[in-house]
Amino acid sequence: MNLLIHDLNDEEWIKVCDDYKGWEIISDNSTIKPCVGCFGCWLKEPGECVIKDGYEKMGALIHKADEVTVISTYTYGGFSSFVKNVFDRSIGWVLPYFEIVHREMHHKRRYPEDKPITFIFRGQFSDSDRIKAKTYVEAVCRNFHGIIKEIRFEECQVKSDKADESTLPVTSDPDKIVLLNCSLRAGNSNSKKFLDRLSSNIKGNTESINLSTYINRYDELAEILIEAGTIVLGIPLYVDGIPSALLRVMERLENYRTAGEKSIYVVSNMGFYESSQLKNLMGMVKSWCEKCGFIYGGGLAIGAGEMTGSIITSTDKGPAKNAAEGLNKLSAAINDLKEIEDIYADAYRFPRTLYMFAADMGWPKGAKKNGLKRKDLYRQVHM
Ligand SMILES: Cc1cc2nc3c(=O)[nH]c(=O)nc-3n(C[C@H](O)[C@H](O)[C@H](O)COP(=O)(O)O)c2cc1C
Repeated sequence: MNLLIHDLNDEEWIKVCDDYKGWEIISDNSTIKPCVGCFGCWLKEPGECVIKDGYEKMGALIHKADEVTVISTYTYGGFSSFVKNVFDRSIGWVLPYFEIVHREMHHKRRYPEDKPITFIFRGQFSDSDRIKAKTYVEAVCRNFHGIIKEIRFEECQVKSDKADESTLPVTSDPDKIVLLNCSLRAGNSNSKKFLDRLSSNIKGNTESINLSTYINRYDELAEILIEAGTIVLGIPLYVDGIPSALLRVMERLENYRTAGEKSIYVVSNMGFYESSQLKNLMGMVKSWCEKCGFIYGGGLAIGAGEMTGSIITSTDKGPAKNAAEGLNKLSAAINDLKEIEDIYADAYRFPRTLYMFAADMGWPKGAKKNGLKRKDLYRQVHM
């Protein structure tokens, strides 16, 4: 069996469907829900997502497939929101436990094989877009135990939501700063902890919003964001990129024309240790800003976010020192509306081996709370 994950609309699909006769097809039937970051696919129902919407068995499907093909509209250097949603919902394909691959922290495999994957990007590409897409899927494959079989770029006109010149520009309030927590863990998220720490240093008219409040009301959220002069995005790293729920909002914001300037800042965090793994995500936000005509003001990328996030609520010291200094620099830039270079903050004087050891100790404890045994975490789901 081969598996195709695609975001083609009906008209586009009819033209190619004969090529995929007999394949398992994952397409957008408008029911897919975003990953909420609960890790239930590791700790409650190992190998399977706990959200039952028809997309919960992605890990098992990937395992069953001899090979996988992904067709996606090229979006800011990576996948469209739908295809990214499928990948975000597929992390049960790997185990929670960590290992070092290519000198980076990654997850151990749940199933014995590496999966050959063909990536087909559709859209319009500059040379740098091709490099960005390639860099991105290389990271995904490193992370997901995939082998790139082929990367293809199909030059075509994909439906663009970009507003035409006749659309009236929206005037934003230059003094309004929105801090958007893009983690669907909402109040419990590390993103919120970093944004709260940041906002304590920001002067002016700020509003803090949880993206989780606007699931399926993305247009409403876009309306709020478009009216802010400055947006600070608190983003968790999902499968080497932007979580699908935020991508949906970003795609919608392409619909607007803005009058005046809008500045975007980023505070991103991640589970693995090396903040350098956030480079693709930061690049994606930059590409989006270019597309929308927004000013990219700069960002802070925080490694070992699960640990740093909990420390920074009580102290700027110890492993949180680099992140705290980065937040201070970022808040100063926001207050002065200045552009700064991205800052990469690893845990300060906290060895990676210790971080991995502590994190790996936590998984069986988490599973035990759900009535599971240590060995249950290795469950393989078959279809
Ligand atoms: C679906 C999913 C995918 C993830 N992918 C990555 C990843 O590629 N690299 C990484 O370092 N962490 C990854 N993580 C871990 C999160 O980035 C990490 O737990 C982060 O601290 C969550 O931030 P939050 O509490 O603000 O949501 C992933 C988590 C989820 C739920």
